Amino acid sequence: MFKIVEKRKLAENIYEMKIAAERVARAALPGQFVIVRVSEGGERIPLTIADYDVEAGTVTIVTQTIGLSTRKICALEQGDYLADFAGPLGRPSEFVHMPLEELRAMKYLFVAGGVGTAPVYPQVKWLKEHGVECDVIIGAKNSDMLIYTDEMSKVGNVHIATDDGSAGYHGLVTGLAKELVEVEGRKYDECVCIGPMIMMKFLTMTTKPWNLKTTVSLNALMVDGTGMCGACRVSVGGKTLFTCVDGPEFDGHAVDFDEAIRRQSMYRNQERTAVENHEHKCKCYGE
Ligand code: NAD
Ligand code: FES
Repeated sequence: MFKIVEKRKLAENIYEMKIAAERVARAALPGQFVIVRVSEGGERIPLTIADYDVEAGTVTIVTQTIGLSTRKICALEQGDYLADFAGPLGRPSEFVHMPLEELRAMKYLFVAGGVGTAPVYPQVKWLKEHGVECDVIIGAKNSDMLIYTDEMSKVGNVHIATDDGSAGYHGLVTGLAKELVEVEGRKYDECVCIGPMIMMKFLTMTTKPWNLKTTVSLNALMVDGTGMCGACRVSVGGKTLFTCVDGPEFDGHAVDFDEAIRRQSMYRNQERTAVENHEHKCKCYGE
């Protein structure tokens, strides 16, 4: 069992939790994820790691209430327990293996969208700790939905975009990326983009004409997280790969996003029915 030692609300339906998981905290690296189960026999939920503290033995996760299982996670309070917290899983970000001299010559642009801002944070923090300054675009629907802006400002040069213009640049992250590169003439060696699939698809289309290497982190549906079940398969450069063991990070210009988007929405109806049944049960039996 894994104790929730801290919980805070970041925005509407988005919660941050610090979990006591000493072994995971000791082994975690930027880019990796965990698979969480609220109760024995419950659904396995892959969640990207938003931070880890080796001394405190805690791992931070950020969850948005999307389906029934994420609602169950978000309903837990400080002092409650998760049944399973498996990880760290997946390959760490490529840059953690680069020689420091080469890394320090790199100019990175990170593009974070919505809840995808949380997994961007440990990457930018790790780079800062290793002497690399990064530009970071954080996009959200409006100023109330922006998360991790204070934390990120301590480790990177933050540029905000909101769809409604309530903070920063008025428009999508793709528009702000164009502003930085095409209007301000900023040069980058690599872009790392994490957020909704549709955002990653359009961001990779934006960076393609710039010949800018663009890494994306895919949040495919997962079951076992070991490369055995095939649930998380994606097509990358014409090859079938498994997000849980070959990713979650891939060359964004090689990912078949249309297929990935189709696969991600495959169980939307079942997910909606599960939420409706749960709400009905809660009303009838006061669960
Ligand atoms: P959102 O819908 O508010 O989008 C965030 C930003 O993405 C927007 O502000 C906009 O700038 C950009 N964007 C959206 N559509 C775009 C488009 N068509 N073209 C260009 N830019 C676009 O984000 P949200 O509601 O927080 O998203 C939640 C989604 O993110 C969920 O589906 C969740 O599964 C996913 N997610 C992904 C990861 C990951 O590892 N890739 C991690 C956490 C969450
Ligand atoms: Fe089963 Fe990746 S989750 S193969």
